[in-house]
Amino acid sequence: MLMTVQDFETTARTRLDPVYADFIAGGAGDEITVRANEEAFRRLRLLPRVLRGNAERALDITVLGSRARTPILLSPTAFHKLLVEEGELATARAAAAAGTIMIVSMASTVAVEDIAEATRGAGEGGDPAPLWFQLYLQPDLEFTRSLVRRATDAGCTALVVTVDSPVRGAHERDLRNGFLDLPDGLRCEHMVDPCEGGRVRPIAMSPEISWTHIDWLRGITSLPILLKGAVHPEDARLAVRHGVDGLLLSNHGGRQLDTVPATIELLPEIHAAVAGRIPIVLDGGVRRGTDVVKALALGASAVGIGRPVMWALAEGGEKGVRRLLELLREELDQALALCGASGVQGLTPDLVRAPAWPP
Ligand code: FNR
Repeated sequence: MLMTVQDFETTARTRLDPVYADFIAGGAGDEITVRANEEAFRRLRLLPRVLRGNAERALDITVLGSRARTPILLSPTAFHKLLVEEGELATARAAAAAGTIMIVSMASTVAVEDIAEATRGAGEGGDPAPLWFQLYLQPDLEFTRSLVRRATDAGCTALVVTVDSPVRGAHERDLRNGFLDLPDGLRCEHMVDPCEGGRVRPIAMSPEISWTHIDWLRGITSLPILLKGAVHPEDARLAVRHGVDGLLLSNHGGRQLDTVPATIELLPEIHAAVAGRIPIVLDGGVRRGTDVVKALALGASAVGIGRPVMWALAEGGEKGVRRLLELLREELDQALALCGASGVQGLTPDLVRAPAWPP
């Protein structure tokens, strides 16, 4: 029975082609950061309050103008057609049904226009389901501009700019497995260049990109911009100074620089650095409702999940992702009830304890 994220992982791994299972689970180098993300959540303890009369618990949030029925967003992940024929359409329908935000990866195998079309009217009260678009800034600014326009015209309500990838992280599992390219018949729909007769460009991750590109982006779009992958407090402060609207505090699930600290450990420092000026969404290692409570109590406005969505997609397509989102919502609600909280707003750091050892 699929009752937990771990159940999805275990069953998906038995079904999946081991090459794809490695692609999802793996990370950079020794995968120290991959493991750290989950371990750091497990190390933290929750100290509940009692007798709070919290029969009603509100789970909905609004981040940068986008409403969601739960604070658990779908972080951008590439290549969903590797797992199910419908690819990102299945994921997007499940996210819409759960009333949460899907961040469409620039490396998706379905175009953002088609994802938006498939979920039109599936949001709250028949509104469009909330979609954000993740972007790797390309040194070819005109091409980047065309991607921003596509995402905007498709109705995306925020841009998530991934900045932890000046070069690609070394995924040794993929290298050993020889998984270097998409199989025939699949392509990254956002890299098809109309000016070059439909040629598919490789996704450029370029060390040329700097803060001046963020300033440029700020100048060409009025959509909220979130920076994904800035983990140093000084960069968090710079982000605010450069007019960025939010942070997605992420170490790319340990897939870029190995040995970066767990995101949940970085959160208090980043929260202090931005001092409430912009919201923080955190991803990396979120596997339980209690993890969500810990992140929100330490200052995040929402969390993102990456691998769990891929496992659920591999396991059961749209239905699998729906079930995953349901179970995490149920776990979150139960954890809030047991913490004496009346919802996801107003959680405070005193709920979270890091056990000191030795005592
Ligand atoms: C990712 N991630 C990612 N990030 C991004 O900005 N663009 C992308 O295209 C992808 N693609 C991608 C593929 C796969 C298979 C994984 C596992 C991850 C990173 C992702 O957005 C997120 O930061 C992490 O996955 C969060 O950690 P967890 O939830 O996987 O522990």
